[in-house]
Amino acid sequence: MEFPITRMRRYRKNSKIRDIVREVKVNKEDLIYPIFVKEDLKDGEKEAISTMPGEYRFSLNDCVEYAKELEAKGLKSIIVFGLPSPEKKDEIGSPAFASTGIVQRTVRKLKAETNLVVITDVCLCQYTSHGHCGLIEPNDDTDFGVEILNDESLEYLAKTALSHAEAGADIVAPSDMMDGRIQAMRDLLDENGYTNTMIMSYSVKFASSFYAPFREAACSAPAAGNRKSYQMDPANAREAIREAELDVVEGADFLMVKPALPYLDIIKSVKDQFMLPLVAYNVSGEYSMIMAGIEKGYLTEESIMESLLSIKRAGADLIITNFAPYALDKL
Ligand code: PBG
Ligand code: ZN
Repeated sequence: MEFPITRMRRYRKNSKIRDIVREVKVNKEDLIYPIFVKEDLKDGEKEAISTMPGEYRFSLNDCVEYAKELEAKGLKSIIVFGLPSPEKKDEIGSPAFASTGIVQRTVRKLKAETNLVVITDVCLCQYTSHGHCGLIEPNDDTDFGVEILNDESLEYLAKTALSHAEAGADIVAPSDMMDGRIQAMRDLLDENGYTNTMIMSYSVKFASSFYAPFREAACSAPAAGNRKSYQMDPANAREAIREAELDVVEGADFLMVKPALPYLDIIKSVKDQFMLPLVAYNVSGEYSMIMAGIEKGYLTEESIMESLLSIKRAGADLIITNFAPYALDKL
């Protein structure tokens, strides 16, 4: 049927009609808020993150208070990022797997005082003196003279995941991109009786410049070099499917694509090919880019919900986003 019988504008006549034909919605349950807890901060002294307007680093107690505020607005889940005291950082990232580490303590309190699904970011970069996501060794056959060791890192990453599970985390989310980490974590969790702790794998994580504001926020930039030998090349879509496939085989419970907006095609193809719940990480650079546009008057606030909607439309079931507090107020 064609014009004038078919008129597409009938679907858009007014908001009542548009509301009933809308294909995709963003729900409060879809949002996961990334929160920064800093070991060295005193209560009441939250620290503004210069690269992310409106975002803060919190002390442990303030983090839990803020989480409660968001829970009251309808937030269902939170992902915790820790910033240890800088003098504790070492070659192997010891503060990442200390039972009294900042994330472990925060998780215990969140579980005791909220009903949120508590997710933890599992990585070493915030905890190593060199800022890489795994252990390192000199090697001349690399871009900057340093090899990020794969198999040697697995033990420490798995220990970190276990320490989060022991603290009560519902879900551990490894973001390091070492090969075999999901299997290493699943094995260690199961051996220790944590058969119900879920693994949300950062399966498809690209080596992206859109993480720059986060690295400032989390003090986790590599001291030398970059992460291109472990995070994916932004050009590779077919390789993304292989990464996801391996994580499914190794026992991941959730898959993730990160970043989100520049990689909507990847979200769509991972969604089409796998049956696991799919998470998209709307990263710091996507947040700060829109915030800067709004501050400058180039964009309006409506660009926020539109971009979250586009991530859902591409196929994400869940979205990790610094816009969660804003979106909870809108929804
Ligand atoms: C660390 C980690 C990063 C992010 C989440 N976990 C940065 C990186 O890989 O350098 C990025 C999150 C964001 O930009 O919002 N493994
Ligand atoms: Zn890392």
